[in-house]
Formats: sequence, C-alpha cells, structure tokens
Amino acid sequence: MAIRIIPVSPFDLVVFGGSGDLAQRKLLPALYHRFADGQFDEASRIVGISRREMSSEAYREIAERAIKKHVRAEERPTETVNRFLSCLDYLSHDVTKTDHWTKLGKKLAHKSERVRVFYLAVAPDLYGSICTGLGRAGLATPESRVVLEKPLGYDLASAEAINGVVGTVFNEGQIYRIDHYLGKETVQNLMALRFANALFEPLWNSAHVDHVQITVAESIGVEERAPYYDGSGALRDMIQNHMLQLLCLVAIEPPSSSSADALRDEKLKVLHALKPIQEDLVGERTVRGQYRAVEAGTLSIPGYIEEVGHPSVTETFVALKAEVANWRWAGVPFYLRTGKRMAKRVSEIVIQFRSIPHSMFESTAGRIASNRLVLRLQPDEAVKMFLMIKDPGPGGMRLRQVPLNLSFAETFGTRQPDAYERLLLDVVRGNQSLFMRRDEVAAAWRWVDPIRDHWERSSDSLQGYIGGTWGPSAAIALMERDHRSWHDDNG
Ligand code: BG6
Repeated sequence: MAIRIIPVSPFDLVVFGGSGDLAQRKLLPALYHRFADGQFDEASRIVGISRREMSSEAYREIAERAIKKHVRAEERPTETVNRFLSCLDYLSHDVTKTDHWTKLGKKLAHKSERVRVFYLAVAPDLYGSICTGLGRAGLATPESRVVLEKPLGYDLASAEAINGVVGTVFNEGQIYRIDHYLGKETVQNLMALRFANALFEPLWNSAHVDHVQITVAESIGVEERAPYYDGSGALRDMIQNHMLQLLCLVAIEPPSSSSADALRDEKLKVLHALKPIQEDLVGERTVRGQYRAVEAGTLSIPGYIEEVGHPSVTETFVALKAEVANWRWAGVPFYLRTGKRMAKRVSEIVIQFRSIPHSMFESTAGRIASNRLVLRLQPDEAVKMFLMIKDPGPGGMRLRQVPLNLSFAETFGTRQPDAYERLLLDVVRGNQSLFMRRDEVAAAWRWVDPIRDHWERSSDSLQGYIGGTWGPSAAIALMERDHRSWHDDNG
C-alpha cells in the first residue's frame, strides 16, 4: 500500500540529551525514517547537545551506529543514511554556563524564522534551567516549540513546579508534553474505531459494557535504567501517564472536532471523573508487586533488588481497579495492569461486553461467552472482535467463540511506524492533539498521588512475584473477586 507523505518545511531541531539512550534508541531512528520517506530534506538541521566534548563528525558516527542497530538493513541504503547524517550537527553544552547559550544562539541565528524545536531528552530537574537559558539567550522565538519527555515531576507539586518554570518562557501552545503511547498506531486506531464507525457508539456505555481491561506487560526488567526507575516505580512510570491516557481514550465522549483542545478537553473530563481511591480502599483496589529472582536449573534471572543493587520497596508491577464516575460509565470497572519481567510483552485494551440476557440454545451447545473487543497495541498490532459462531459441520448446534481478526501487518503489509515518528513530525507541524496539556498532567497526578502516599505509609503491601509470570496472585484475585478474569488469548 502506498504511504501518503506530507512534506514539512525545513526546521531546526535541537535535542538536549542528543547522545543519550532515548536519542539513540528512538529519536534518531524515528527521524531517519521520516527523512528516508521524504518528509523532510537536508535543508533541516538536527543539533545534538550534551555535556560530552565531541566533534559533529563523532556525533554522526554515534547516529550512524544507532541507525544500523535500530533500522532494518533493507531500509537504510548507504546513500540515504549519508544524506540524513549530513543534517546532523553537535554542540557540547553545559546548561549552567552562559557562554554555551551564546554558542547555541550562533548556530541557530541565520534561520531564526524557521520552526525551532527544543527536545528535552534529559532529567526533568534540568527542564527549568534549560528553558530559562533559552529564554535569556533570546532563543525562544515565536516559532519555537519545546518538547518535554516524561516523567514530568514525581508528584503533583513537582510537576506544577516544572510546568510553572517552563510556562514563564513558553506559552501552552508551544509546549509539547510527550506521551509516546498516544503516537502508537493502534491507540490512534481506537479513535478511528470509536469515532469513524457508527457501530460501536450505541454499545459504548455501562448498559452494554461489563468492564474494561488495559494491560501493558513487558518481559524485560529495569536493567540499566535502574537508577531512574528506583525513584519512580510502575505507578509513576506507567500508570500516571500511559495507562491513564489509554483509559481516557476508551472513556471520552466524542469530541466535537479533531482540534487538539476538543480532544484534550474531553480527556480532562474523564480524569476529573475518576473516582478517588479512598485510603481504606487502596488495599482492596490496588496491587503492587516487585519481581524476584528466578533460579531454575541453568536458568538464572536476577530479581529487581539484585538489579538495583540494594534493598528497595519500589514496585515493578501495579494492578488496580478504577472507576469513571459519570453517566456513561457508572458501575463499569476499568482494570489496569502493568509490570516488568512479566510472562510476555503484550499491550492491549479489552472491552468486555455484557452477556446475552437469555439463551435459546440447549445446554449441549456449550457456554456462550460474552463478546469481547481487543485492541492489541503491541506486538502484532491488531483489532480482534470475539464472537460466538456455530461450530462448522454436522453434530448438532455447538457454539464456539472465535475472533474476527484484523491484523495490521497482514492487512496492510507495511512497516508500522514507531510512535516517535508521528509525534516528532506533529511537533514540527504544530499539532498538539497527541500531547498532554498541563491540566491533564495535573489531574492525573491528583488521582495517583493519594495511592502513592498510602503505599508509602504501608510498606508491607508490596508483594513479590516470580519473574516471567503475570505478577502477584493478588492481581488475579483482584478480578476474580468480581467474578472476572484477565484476558489471555495466547494469540
Ligand atoms: C516508558 C517507560 O515511558 O515506556 C518505560 O518509562 C517503559 O519503563 C516504556 O519500558 C514502554 O514503552 P513501549 O513503547 O516499549 O511499550
């Protein structure tokens, strides 16, 4: 299938943390793909910035290695890679030194009318000083945008402090708070499914939906990210942002238009409608776990504590039951679950519909399972609708549940672009729809903070789980108590 590319005008992109892990793993490969597809050309400039002293040539070598590692061989002809590398430049920069801002100013000076993107792929405690530096050096032109990576603070107060400082230099229309889950193809497909089809809307409410499940499971542990992760944990790292954003997109009312604020206004209403989990219910409605080492025969996988190298009560797994207290969703639980070192890497959203009110079939037909819509975010992006059908052939009426399976790879046969490809170009185009507004971030922290506070007061609630499993048994019990179970179609 032909890919439709809308080229953008030449821009300047400055990546703070330009030689760091995110830049190498995600940003440079994503930019390369957009370049290779012809969305921008050599007139655009990408300036990597970090403390490290190195030449632009050395930086291009780092970028080349990153592209070789993260882009498939057939997608990186040498000539295209070289043309892309010619857009790259490097500046060693200490944000605390004034003369460094002057150097950056000189690099950007001759094209001051261009769209300028400052991407902050650094620790959030540097966001304030970088933005202040940009402001003082006069680099925050009207055409400038700043991209803030998560985590945006570690609670409501710290997030507001960061947003406050950034807001003194850039206005809200220039601030792009990235949540890369919003750039995933299937997440955008959730909006297409809901708002470009008439079929689902009449069923998308508490009269027809029994519950919603959102799972983001990773098979890897925290590995080299341990220093960051240990101060964060799964609640801050995944629930406060990615998982709540997914919940919002399932639960929002249809926005009146595709404008950024129409969508974000609706998400904010959902966040405001989230019922606070009161202190006396935190134990019953939330589960937090930490993976333990696995030693079986020749198999030896370290536990979280071995990976961080000291005792820790940081959770690597969270399951919880949330409620959206509004007309559409009253009484429909939203079960969220995320964890590291789980049985497999899978992210999906499950809409479980209610069961039929009455069966006309004999008991010999078998159990009638309720319909289930599954949106698989990764791996193998797909939309599956589980339906009951008659088992084919003779032998009387026997019913069976099968999925109508829309696999994106099989149907479209194209490479699924990485979320960062879409999001980076959205910043250049000035489209904020898939970025979080300040009030959304604050509302999400407001809901999450009391859970965190309660956990901190009761360290005994942390449960161990064996690496490579689906988390603590309490997570299974969380659903079984409600006579429900986590979806697993093994497909
Ligand atoms: C990041 C988290 O935001 O998302 C990581 O900080 C997590 O801990 C990652 O591994 C998951 O992203 P993806 O796209 O691999 O599902």
